Amino acid sequence: MPPPAPDRFYVTTPIYYVNDVPHIGHAYNTVTCDAAARWHRLLGDDVWFLTGTDEHGLKVQRAAEANGRTPKEQADITSERFKDTWRLLNVSHDDFIRTTEPRHYTSVQQFLQRVHDNGDIYLGTYEGLYCVSCEAYYNEDDLVDGNCPIHKRPVDFLSEENYFFRLSKYTQPLFDWYEANPEAVFPEGKRNEALGLIRQGLQDISISRTSITWGVPVPWDEKHVFYVWYDALINYATAVGYGDDRSRFEQWWPAVHHVIGKDIIRFHCVYWPAMLLAAGEEPPHRIGVHGFLLAGGEKISKSGLNTTQISPQDLADEVGVDAVRHHLLRNPFGPDGEFSFEGLVARYNADLANNFGNLASRVATVVGKKCGGVGPAPASDSPLADVARQVYDDTAQGWADLQPAAALDATWRLIRETNSYLEANEPWKAEPGPALDAVLGDALEALRIVAVLASPALPDACDELWRRIGLSGLPAEQRLPDAAAWGQYPGGLAVEKGEPLFPRK
Ligand code: ME8
Ligand code: MG
Repeated sequence: MPPPAPDRFYVTTPIYYVNDVPHIGHAYNTVTCDAAARWHRLLGDDVWFLTGTDEHGLKVQRAAEANGRTPKEQADITSERFKDTWRLLNVSHDDFIRTTEPRHYTSVQQFLQRVHDNGDIYLGTYEGLYCVSCEAYYNEDDLVDGNCPIHKRPVDFLSEENYFFRLSKYTQPLFDWYEANPEAVFPEGKRNEALGLIRQGLQDISISRTSITWGVPVPWDEKHVFYVWYDALINYATAVGYGDDRSRFEQWWPAVHHVIGKDIIRFHCVYWPAMLLAAGEEPPHRIGVHGFLLAGGEKISKSGLNTTQISPQDLADEVGVDAVRHHLLRNPFGPDGEFSFEGLVARYNADLANNFGNLASRVATVVGKKCGGVGPAPASDSPLADVARQVYDDTAQGWADLQPAAALDATWRLIRETNSYLEANEPWKAEPGPALDAVLGDALEALRIVAVLASPALPDACDELWRRIGLSGLPAEQRLPDAAAWGQYPGGLAVEKGEPLFPRK
């Protein structure tokens, strides 16, 4: 029999607006996707990881004007800043889409032409209150003290001839989709929020503008450009071949996992599935919705004042790239989480310096002193073998649920239990011999497994650890679950102590 086809895992970040440079809130989303992609690669799945930039719309146009640039110049400069940040943070995306690319124009025009041909787009007049920062209209009662509820800034009154998408027609199909796919939108609280939006009643939505030119032209009426959100959502289809290569598109669609922040639930969990249905495509497989990272209780944002204090670059300069990644991934996926430099350092010292780093260094020290720097093999009946099995299952469950914090917590149990095992057996006091070899071999085997399981979060440190225990660099072809099975550390390898993996801060 041929081997089963590998599972497909197509994961996407939102595409980021290029009005300003990336901040730690964007990094939170992107690093979460990156770690999940890395985990699925370890599983041997077919993985495609997409990120990119959202370059049309009034917000970008205004930022360009303020900077004395054309919108395209603004987009060129800022999309590079996003690429630089992802390179810095060791993000392993397979593709970086920009919505100003020709492939995206083709795809958007085909997608919406199809919806138009199906009779779900018509011409009407739109009047409403518009927040440029959100690129969204609000009702009077959504406003807080007359301001946008998110940005707390004044909204604009706009009136224009627009094309409308018959969203109202998709109310029942959306309910049916939610009912048939109870896990599509998660966590549950966010799913309920999305369902609540549908229950409130869906009105047709305006999807084009005549007042601006910075957008994708409407193919059947070139006075109009599509409103930025309706071009933007289609990026997820463009990137896997929509409008260009049908068989490639069908390879990845609908195996898509969108990861988004809670402010864009309406667009991803209501409008996007409806648009896909209207175009004759399937809605996404899963949509994971996270909360905001807050600084002093306020959303960290490009339009706020707190961005520059928490640039990903500055944080990485202080504690290292892996530690920034680790801290972001430890934030539970779903609720809002307070982000502070003090919190980052506290977690760094507790999890990385005192637990992980300390285990690696104490094992290497004792192997150096008692075994002449040559690591022994593990015992097959080690008490840590059972722990490692359970840890693998729980780690795998955490990643499958897109709960990196739970996955890492499970992996860290193996670190803690190995530290306790060493304290119980005190190899640093033991005489050289088989009993000592077994304890140290077990600890090296536990470190080997940790190096595999933690690598999606801490790719560089795990690679370095793997090298130090004599395995010469974490090979890319490691596959789970085999690589996590107990008893593979061969013994007889040179173990190097080196500088602390995570020096205390
Ligand atoms: O919304 N904490 O782009 P965007 C966590 N272009 N996440 C945060 C955050 C914070 N403090 N601040 C922002 C857009 N985000 C659109 C998306 S997708 C087809 C188009 C998240 O640059 C936010 O929740 O304003 C959103 O998920 C993402 O960053 C992009 O924000
Ligand atoms: Mg935003």
